Amino acid sequence: MSKKFYITTPIYYVNARPHIGHAYTTIVCDTIARRHRMLGDDTWFLTGTDEHGQKIERAAQAAGKTPQQFTDEVSAQFRALWNRMGLTPDDFIRTTSERHQQGVQALWRKIRDNGFIYKGTYTGQYCVSDELYVDAEPGAPCPDCGRPTETVHEENYYFKLSAFQDRLIRLYTEQPDFIRPETRRNEVLSFVRGGLRDLSISRSTFSWGIPVPDDPKHVVYVWMDALANYITALGYGSNNTSKFEKYWPADVHMIGKEIVRFHCVYWPAFLLAAGLPLPKSITAHGWLLFEESKMSKSRGNIVRAETIVDVLGTDALRYFLLREVVFGQDGSFSFDALVQRYNSDLANGLGNLASRTLTMINRYFKGEVPYPSHAHTPADVAIAAAAKKTIADCGTLFDQYQFSRALETAWGLVSAVDKYIVENEPWSLGDKQDEESRSRLATVLYTSAEALRIVTALAHPVMPDATAKIWAQLGLGDIGKFDLTELQWGQLHLGTKLGEVQAVFPRADKSAVDRMQKMEVQSVGTGEARQPAASQTAPASPEVAPAKPAATIPDGKISIDDFAKVELRVAQVKTAERVKGADKLLRLEVDLGTEIRQLVAGIAEAYDPETLIGRKVVIVANLAPRKLRGLESNGMIVAASPEGGKPVLASFLEDVPVGTRLK
Ligand code: ME8
Ligand code: MG
Repeated sequence: MSKKFYITTPIYYVNARPHIGHAYTTIVCDTIARRHRMLGDDTWFLTGTDEHGQKIERAAQAAGKTPQQFTDEVSAQFRALWNRMGLTPDDFIRTTSERHQQGVQALWRKIRDNGFIYKGTYTGQYCVSDELYVDAEPGAPCPDCGRPTETVHEENYYFKLSAFQDRLIRLYTEQPDFIRPETRRNEVLSFVRGGLRDLSISRSTFSWGIPVPDDPKHVVYVWMDALANYITALGYGSNNTSKFEKYWPADVHMIGKEIVRFHCVYWPAFLLAAGLPLPKSITAHGWLLFEESKMSKSRGNIVRAETIVDVLGTDALRYFLLREVVFGQDGSFSFDALVQRYNSDLANGLGNLASRTLTMINRYFKGEVPYPSHAHTPADVAIAAAAKKTIADCGTLFDQYQFSRALETAWGLVSAVDKYIVENEPWSLGDKQDEESRSRLATVLYTSAEALRIVTALAHPVMPDATAKIWAQLGLGDIGKFDLTELQWGQLHLGTKLGEVQAVFPRADKSAVDRMQKMEVQSVGTGEARQPAASQTAPASPEVAPAKPAATIPDGKISIDDFAKVELRVAQVKTAERVKGADKLLRLEVDLGTEIRQLVAGIAEAYDPETLIGRKVVIVANLAPRKLRGLESNGMIVAASPEGGKPVLASFLEDVPVGTRLK
């Protein structure tokens, strides 16, 4: 009997264009959804965009657009990208849609009528970047992300989160699979054990949100608004709740590890308060890193999926992310690693196995799958046994979301067959006409083709395009019709006429890396249309930059390489004194970690020398030395210099080691 299976991605903020971090979660869910469909499950896969809140309102302002115009555009980019990548969500929810707003208001009323909402006053810090009320002193940075917080003083509606502490702890304990993996579960457990305070769930100082029912001066807190998408998309609160009844509760909410608290604490508490069933599991994966730090729009060190899709194809990106990243852990992205994997596992691995096997069947058997002989050698038997084991192991590993190991296992079969082909030399057998050689050749090619078919079926959810092509080349028609529960050794139809044989993964040469890097730099440099929030986010950090300058630099801009020439470093002031006869100058000695330098800086009117001792400052470390009042200055201290005002030294909210480079 077919089971229902409901899987969701987070809904992505539309304050900036999508990058491969967003693509990662969406690809993982697409793969899982495809596998469930192949297993015959009644599958529903939801994604969408998160469009309300202060962060979005400000991004729209920065782009000079109305919030609605702005969110329409960016949301459309997400949807267009998923389409272009061949992803298969069954629905795409926007939080600005009528159906969603109506559903959120219904949820609010339900929770309110059940007695879990009250009015109060909030004074404290808010982190706009995280859209989170935080426990911090005024002026202190956000304890979660380190960015500055803002003080808010508002009359708000509160949710009685504290009432759910015990029930949540019981939930995590009695249903250990509720939060996966284990490490995240432990984090949440200790957070909740530390005590839950009631949660402010409305805002009244801006208007870009869903009006609170019966009190429209307030808008619903953006996270309550956003989390509700998982049920509003199914019709919760509308007059057609058939999907909600069919698919809720979700089988998996897939998320990145930074939003665990919202999903594992707030969301189940809202649902409990509304008397609704809880999702079966929340699964958090790790971060894609780009040169050691989290790829993110606020850092600006992003890579777009479009670039990889253009150069190597969607399947290559999907395979790489699932094979290279150990699911649940952080994983690094690099163009070099991508191209290397592509060549070794796809061009030389699966692609080569397909083309050599199918080409030989064409050549020696007129393109018809040959009949194997009954006399099997131990090598034939070993391949069949390995294939059977691969089917079983791969299934288990996929179901445990151990994608990397599942693919490693399947590719173990690819290598075993490669070795088998080399050892059995079908090309030498093909030169002979005697019956024994012919029958041996038939067996070797049948065995290879059957193993190829099995790997192709197993890899289909990961690489839908390429596997569909190989399947058709094997003469098997539409892979979409194949029932994965039936997969067994020995099903390849004898005498099947092969389809036209074509290379599926052409080898990528070295220039592929260069081309992708160049495309990334250009997309940043030209601020093309698909980057509406560019003015609001940092320009690309040098981490995205290749060794070569971008081909086209618009007027008035510099290339990343020009910027990289400026060596900015953190230094600590060791000594400071006034320069005799110069009102504005201080003589400083600063520690750069590797050396002590003397600088002369024009900051005497703004800073008393003694207040600077021990302070960390930013200096231009590779400025040519120059003499001021007879003193050699080796570098320049960085300060904001307001028109007509005193200079203000650049500094950091968090502690940074001396010598660290700014880039
Ligand atoms: O948090 N590595 O939206 P968001 C891996 N709107 N995954 C990444 C990633 C990276 N470097 N960067 C982003 C929000 N992601 C809220 C969610 S849900 C009710 C509301 C993926 O645009 C990952 O899934 O910041 C992460 O959780 C999500 O994008 C955050 O997207
Ligand atoms: Mg985020």
